[in-house]
Amino acid sequence: MKQILVVDDNLSSLKQIDAQLAGNYEVSLAKSGESALQICARQRPDLILLDIEMSGMNGFEVMDKLRHNPALSRIPVIFLTGNIDSETEVKGLKSGARDFITKPIEKNILIHRIELHLRFSSYQVQLEYTVSSISDSMAVAFAELIECRDENTGGHVTRTSKYVERLGRELLKMGAFPGELSEEGLELIVRGSPLHDIGKIAVSDRILLKPGKLDDAEFAAMKKHAAMGAEMLFHLHARTPNQRYLQYARMIAASHHEKFNGQGYPAGLKGDDIPLSGRIMAVADVYDALSNDRVYRSRMSHDEVCRIILEGKGSHFDPRVVEAFEVVHNDLEQIT
Ligand SMILES: [Fe+2]
Repeated sequence: MKQILVVDDNLSSLKQIDAQLAGNYEVSLAKSGESALQICARQRPDLILLDIEMSGMNGFEVMDKLRHNPALSRIPVIFLTGNIDSETEVKGLKSGARDFITKPIEKNILIHRIELHLRFSSYQVQLEYTVSSISDSMAVAFAELIECRDENTGGHVTRTSKYVERLGRELLKMGAFPGELSEEGLELIVRGSPLHDIGKIAVSDRILLKPGKLDDAEFAAMKKHAAMGAEMLFHLHARTPNQRYLQYARMIAASHHEKFNGQGYPAGLKGDDIPLSGRIMAVADVYDALSNDRVYRSRMSHDEVCRIILEGKGSHFDPRVVEAFEVVHNDLEQIT
């Protein structure tokens, strides 16, 4: 059953709407804007009926708080109002309200309006999911196309994404980066991670497929893939700013070869100056690179790879990410 939150500082009005919705929805009641926001933080309602004129925080102020909270900003809100002038109506629509219902409220109209907006909301979620799935599939396909140039690295793109997700989940569980890593942030990092090596499109086959060790000039050319990838993703994100994961993809591309001690490239960033997404990807990338054959060397055993990553704790890698790795390394070994 869909959850509806009704917010009104008039108790008799609240009781009347509660009675009208009973049996059709799970109804929560709030007598103030402050109380409404507390309820939203505990249990995200599917739709909010929000009175405009309330003592304390009014409907517009509640609306503003909701719109600035990413977890709540998509909840459809219908304003409840007495007689409304056109100026207030425009202000309400600009604030993000979906609709208005004028008091006194007639039950059938209330139910029909709620159903209409719940349906719109559901279509919107489905559409956004479809668009993001297409976008993700295209990003992975493009990354794999680049990866295919070096047949020894097949599967690297998808494996490293899974490693990043597993490491990120453990870091969330550990509470290692409060305020810096959230469920939503991790989702964007995971979506952006397949594009970390996209700049390799600009590296020549002669260098990318060289079976031996790269000389200084070749290594310098190879290192450019980080900055090039970041630049490509910057332009792509500028054209599609609503695709927020591209912002994370750009950060990961730019920073996945930085080292915690400042000895990495391209910018020589140190410690927490390296974006967290890049610090997580650094562990995932090295774990996968060492665990699989390359044109210039054979794969290492899981134990040997773990030893190298632990040796890099605090120098190459963020120690907190390595701590997460120590917990999940057996899980990573099972990922194909
Ligand atoms: Fe790379």
